[in-house]
Amino acid sequence: MRVLGIETSCDETSVAIYDEKAGLLAHHIYSQTELHAQYGGVVPELASRDHISKLLPLVRQSMADASYSPEDLTGIVYTAGPGLVGALLVGACLATSLAYGWNLPVLGVNHLEGHVLAAMLEENRPEYPFTSLLVSGGHTALIEVSAPGSYKILGETIDDAVGEAFDKTAKQLGLPYPGGAALAKLAEKAELGNFRFTRPMPEGLNFSFSGLKTQALLTIQAQSNSDHFAEIAAAFQETVVDTLVMKCERALKQTGHSRLVIAGGVGANQRLREKLKSNLSKNNIEVFYPRQLFCTDNAAMIAYAGYLRLKAGERDTELHVHPRWSLEELKEIELPIEM
Ligand code: KG4
Ligand code: ZN
Repeated sequence: MRVLGIETSCDETSVAIYDEKAGLLAHHIYSQTELHAQYGGVVPELASRDHISKLLPLVRQSMADASYSPEDLTGIVYTAGPGLVGALLVGACLATSLAYGWNLPVLGVNHLEGHVLAAMLEENRPEYPFTSLLVSGGHTALIEVSAPGSYKILGETIDDAVGEAFDKTAKQLGLPYPGGAALAKLAEKAELGNFRFTRPMPEGLNFSFSGLKTQALLTIQAQSNSDHFAEIAAAFQETVVDTLVMKCERALKQTGHSRLVIAGGVGANQRLREKLKSNLSKNNIEVFYPRQLFCTDNAAMIAYAGYLRLKAGERDTELHVHPRWSLEELKEIELPIEM
């Protein structure tokens, strides 16, 4: 099976071709970050317009990379949600049109399922079942993954996503959007200990980051200059990381799983990786990370998730997009026995 995957849920236009035997044969990501940076966040209408101009050239380029003609494909999949509705429609319309013109099956894929399964694109892939920590700019959740397509949300954020809290705090520190990675870099320069923030929502498996964001904001505003910004960044990052590690430990105790799989852009955070590794290895928990390219938004994960569902015989009969679409609404993927 050979699947063309299209991702346009937010501010990355991405196209991939996944072959079930050879793996990834083409993968392109065009990031709109620069376009949105001047506004300090994603402007949905600009995102849609940019997807329109970039998507078809990336499809052509991907087909050329794989030396494919339409007959070489088995199906086309696209991100149908969650995401920005205008941006999603660009991918959905092109995927559906190409599938119609090329007489191929088409399927809308859940973006979060793509993130959760991204680790499967790596050679060192986890076996099922596992617990997933999804930490991105739009989502923060702990998920019990019993089998492909079988997801139970154990906990999620009640306000800001963790990446959003990183980005908003980074903005207060004068760092350009999206500031998560820049805040982490600034934090590396500082010693811990001079500033301390309260760990938010220590109970249960849900998360809340808006109070911590406000604590950081008030601390930044109380400074007369930027001399202590690196220490504040370090204290903020440490509080976020400690909260995530503590909740992962609790979730793993609840599921009884021995594997934790990280997904989403904040999974690139080095401090999070270090602390998860040191804390969880004591309990013989194996931690899996997709490479950074597969942590942030990409079509490879969509092509892979779509491939599994096409393989299970799923097909769409009409175009659909969902700005909101919970993982718990998905049905388990009924894969053929030999897989
Ligand atoms: O998964 P992703 O690319 O987009 C969404 O689907 O939301 O995640 C992007 C988020 C941004 O908020 C970005 O600031 C954050 O991931 N991020 C980081 C780091 N690298 C990216 N946050 C903390 N530390 C990092 N090293
Ligand atoms: Zn994402």
